Amino acid sequence: MEALEKFLLEEFYWLHRHPELSFQEVETTAHLRDRLEEYGFRVLDLPLKTGIVAELGEGGPVTALRADIDALPITEQTGLPYQSERSGVMHACGHDFHTASVLGAALLLRERGDLRGRVRIVFQPAEEAPGGAKILMDQGALDGVSAMFGLHCSPQLSVGTVGIREGAVTASVDRFLIYFRGRGTHAAHPERGADPIPAMASFVQSVQTIMNRNVDPAEAGIVSVTHVEAGNTWNVIPDEALVEGTTRSFSAKTRALIRRRLYKLAEGTAAAYGVQAVIDWYEGPPATNNTPAWTELARKVARAHRLSVVEAPISLAGEDFAFYQEKIPGCFVLVGTGKSAANHNAKFRVDPCALVPTAEYLAALAAASLQELAS
Ligand code: NI
Repeated sequence: MEALEKFLLEEFYWLHRHPELSFQEVETTAHLRDRLEEYGFRVLDLPLKTGIVAELGEGGPVTALRADIDALPITEQTGLPYQSERSGVMHACGHDFHTASVLGAALLLRERGDLRGRVRIVFQPAEEAPGGAKILMDQGALDGVSAMFGLHCSPQLSVGTVGIREGAVTASVDRFLIYFRGRGTHAAHPERGADPIPAMASFVQSVQTIMNRNVDPAEAGIVSVTHVEAGNTWNVIPDEALVEGTTRSFSAKTRALIRRRLYKLAEGTAAAYGVQAVIDWYEGPPATNNTPAWTELARKVARAHRLSVVEAPISLAGEDFAFYQEKIPGCFVLVGTGKSAANHNAKFRVDPCALVPTAEYLAALAAASLQELAS
């Protein structure tokens, strides 16, 4: 056990020191390949630029454990002795913790002689981008997998606690860009043009009515306008005004409703002000969807490992593990990593004490799921 702890700490520190942005995880991938080959795992032959998938065990069924490996464009301010060595890049979402834990789980699984099938170890690139999950799916990395488990560290939960919830734990994520297109003119002669700014301003106000007038009050969701831009000086009415933002929800129905209403409001507002609305919509992942049976197993195994199990705090953040869950049943679990600044903050930190119990838990969960599948 001491050997495992030492190994996991070293891995975690190395990963933390060497963060790489989404789709640029070249060194991380090479490092993982070295480890996987060193310990005799079968690395799958996939045409991946970054990310790596390996397997252990024999025959079927197949269960999968997934870790994401990318970092964020943030300059670390934790002052930790193993702080990022790359200025402007930081593991501020704990994906280094996920990666080390899953690697630890793989080692523990290798030592067990009782695996009733195969475990696929998935180190996914670009969770933050997002897009990594989709690439792995498209390249067949998950073919033949019957159950799948993923984790996210949570600074809201203490070490030794896991948050598990049936259904959605993270939200669907969409991004919108709306260009209100008018006709620029002299600030002193608005009557000679079509000013896009009043349309933009009106839209920013009215878009909030989607959540409190259209969506069922019992349903969660958010519309956030995060970026507006128009004009560049004081005496010119611009041609165009931009509104950018994101929408989040837990159900497919609410997701579609928000989108529909947002289009109507943008187009209707534009028409009312005599300008045009051109809308770009980018669909991110759906909400996560933990299936009942695997959620129950995740709880059962956690309790057997003396972890305290709480209902996972729900979040309107996104998680591209949800793409896998559209095809493969499973459970996405929150693992307590102790008090810290929020994820995506320059002072975010994970308590490394959570590494060993998490690796043990994931290994046990993968083995138990194989047993379920085989029986
Ligand atoms: Ni994350």
